[in-house]
Amino acid sequence: MPLRTIDFLGDLSGKTVLVRCDFNVPLADGVIADDGRIRSSVPTIQRLIDGGAAVIAVSHLGRPDGVPDERYSLVAVASRLAELIDAPVSFASDTVGPDATEQRAQLVAGHVLVLENLRFDPRETSTVDSERAEFAALLVQGVDALVSDGFGVVHRKQASVYEAANAVPSAAGLLVAAETDVLRRLTTDTQRPYTVVLGGSKVSDKLGVIEHLLPRVDRLLIGGGMLFTFLAAQGKSIGASLCEADKFDTVLRYLAEAEKRGVEIVLPTDVVVADRFAADAEHVTVAADAIEESPYGSAGMGLDIGPVSAAHFASLIESSKTVFWNGPMGVFEMEPFAAGTRTIAEALTKVDGLGVVGGGDSAAAVRSLGFSDSSFGHISTGGGASLEFLEGKPLPGLEVLGW
Ligand code: 3PG
Ligand code: MG
Repeated sequence: MPLRTIDFLGDLSGKTVLVRCDFNVPLADGVIADDGRIRSSVPTIQRLIDGGAAVIAVSHLGRPDGVPDERYSLVAVASRLAELIDAPVSFASDTVGPDATEQRAQLVAGHVLVLENLRFDPRETSTVDSERAEFAALLVQGVDALVSDGFGVVHRKQASVYEAANAVPSAAGLLVAAETDVLRRLTTDTQRPYTVVLGGSKVSDKLGVIEHLLPRVDRLLIGGGMLFTFLAAQGKSIGASLCEADKFDTVLRYLAEAEKRGVEIVLPTDVVVADRFAADAEHVTVAADAIEESPYGSAGMGLDIGPVSAAHFASLIESSKTVFWNGPMGVFEMEPFAAGTRTIAEALTKVDGLGVVGGGDSAAAVRSLGFSDSSFGHISTGGGASLEFLEGKPLPGLEVLGW
């Protein structure tokens, strides 16, 4: 079934529309470190405003566990949105409390009201259906329609994502529509060669996606902290590198399965090893099977893929027609260990076909390394959501929109 899109909602002039956004941006000391998700929400809100609607924008930020916590306030997000959007933006200091109630009553067409963090109320993420329904009913009070545009959260069955969308006429916003469109091209009628690049620290976060993609891809490139679990499973010594020993069997099964299917799982042949986890750590590049032969012996920890591997990964990426990348290749936040991630990002900008950066964190990583959004085919705003999409899991936030 196709997603219901905004047109389904008809003429929204003079109507009040609740927009579920994903404003879950990285904050450093209260300052927005990457505003990508806020910028991605602008087209939908602007379209609704230009169509004569009044917009109530809601989102979570972080995981405040059902209690108000100023470290997770959306106040800075509302200010940033006001700079990006051509409309007056106000902010309510609570979500369904007295301030929100008063400001909702005063809201007029062409204006945007941002409510405080949804997750300051425990009912937003409650596992009890009736509690979520109760909270959703408060969110949609006086609302004519809901537009769901927080792609990063469509894998969550939460009050604002699921129950609220069931309570009033609802449809996907422009971001959710665009994201699902691109991700669908990674699962059906995919142009080949199809390469998937996975990084990040944990294999356990990527098991589902590896399992589901193995039969569909031509090459799977593995970097980031998770690569050391692969090396260790193959019997290599990895010093003090990250390792999930309880995943050895699974990883070996993937390697065997890939071989059987003729899928290339490419592991780095060289890695950057440091004497400790710090930006000013001493470090050297060694062969992936000689990690403990570095000057740091068994204390050495791998923090990036090496230059030979990065160049090899880059050539495989550039010769592909379809590429999906999730997870940094190394500790890119520390300059000495950012080269692998930078090389992969650069290669992705050169794909003659569809190159997708998947994930809130990976997206923030490429921007922090100086790449602009427009250099990539698509940058997904959803990390967990895009992975679960590619795993073929049912996504409650899309199903409720007719998917
Ligand atoms: C994300 O950052 O992936 C989304 O905003 C969802 O956040 P969550 O993982 O806390 O539900
Ligand atoms: Mg996240």
